Amino acid sequence: TPSTLIDGFGRRISYVRLSVTDRCDLRCRYCMAETMQFLPRDELLRFEEIEQLADVLIARGVNRLRLTGGEPLVRRGVLDLVDRLGTRLGHGLDELTLTTNGTQLAGAAPRLAAAGVRRINVSLDSRDPQLFAHITRRGQLDRVLAGIAAAKAAGLEVKINMVALKGLNEEEIEPMLRWCAAEGHALTLIETMPLGEVEDDRTDHYLPLDAVRQRLEERFTLVPNLSRTGGPARYVDVAELGVRLGFITPLTSNFCAGCNRIRITATGTVYGCLGHDQKVELRELLRSGGADAVAAALDRLVAGKPQRHAFDVAAPQPAVARHMSVTGG
Ligand code: GTP
Ligand code: 5AD
Ligand code: SF4
Repeated sequence: TPSTLIDGFGRRISYVRLSVTDRCDLRCRYCMAETMQFLPRDELLRFEEIEQLADVLIARGVNRLRLTGGEPLVRRGVLDLVDRLGTRLGHGLDELTLTTNGTQLAGAAPRLAAAGVRRINVSLDSRDPQLFAHITRRGQLDRVLAGIAAAKAAGLEVKINMVALKGLNEEEIEPMLRWCAAEGHALTLIETMPLGEVEDDRTDHYLPLDAVRQRLEERFTLVPNLSRTGGPARYVDVAELGVRLGFITPLTSNFCAGCNRIRITATGTVYGCLGHDQKVELRELLRSGGADAVAAALDRLVAGKPQRHAFDVAAPQPAVARHMSVTGG
């Protein structure tokens, strides 16, 4: 019987982030360049191949699957894939989730819920229409807010992801927290990570979350909440507002010792770490190599998984050349 996936540092891999496309309808400044070269569509894994791969991973002890992108909802037919993956829930898979920018969520939310998705993470860096348009370069805030409302109406739990950006949305953190409290969403703040070249200098907008947390503590009581969602966020409950707040701190507080994950790109490359180039290619193995070859490649990847990232926003070059949109975060 196939064994569980345990890396060289004793970390068990139970969570996989699966990017279904590197494309996105937005161009968030910290994430993408204005002009991006996307992968040819014929190189993408087909849905049957993704299902096949998901079954291999589930058999090896992976019980959480998160679809990412790019923007997962821009891949044609992706809701059919969600339906099919949803049939594995309760059969080795405990959670099927999605990270989305929300632009197409209004239409997709009911089907996501019907497929067994219980919660989703939606990126929302600003609730100011002008600033939202500036950060995303082409986003319309109304559409995203409508998507979030539709998700809530469909019974999905929504967590808002906000990349904390100095001089951009810094002053909006507290209003965002109050809005999330009123709407019943959790909020997670994220430090900007140096992945791929973008036009902006990420150092200009880097906001260390330890400082944000201190500032919030002057106004609110932050009660550490030890529950985890499987990701790197550390949570607190904001006593005065009754809202859950998460911090993802790759720069100010490393969380790699507890890493439980690998990521798969839309073309079937598996990366051991968000911050390294260590990888194996699965697409051709899925097409012609057979189950043993896929299993052996996964074992090789996990055995060589790096201990931790070495992100440094102040470094002249990004830690890795590929953008977040290739590996889905
Ligand atoms: P849950 O905890 O399941 O809600 O998900 P998550 O927060 O891990 O996933 P999400 O897709 O919402 O990612 C939020 C942010 O965390 C993104 O900026 C991701 O790039 C970042 N992130 C997620 N996993 C990792 C990781 O393993 N390492 C690092 N450095 N960042 C990660
Ligand atoms: N650093 C931190 N977060 C990023 N995201 C995209 N690029 C970066 C980056 N360079 C965020 C998005 C989304 C999540 C999947 O990753 O805003 O919320
Ligand atoms: Fe895991 Fe790499 Fe993320 Fe650290 S940076 S938590 S080692 S994937």
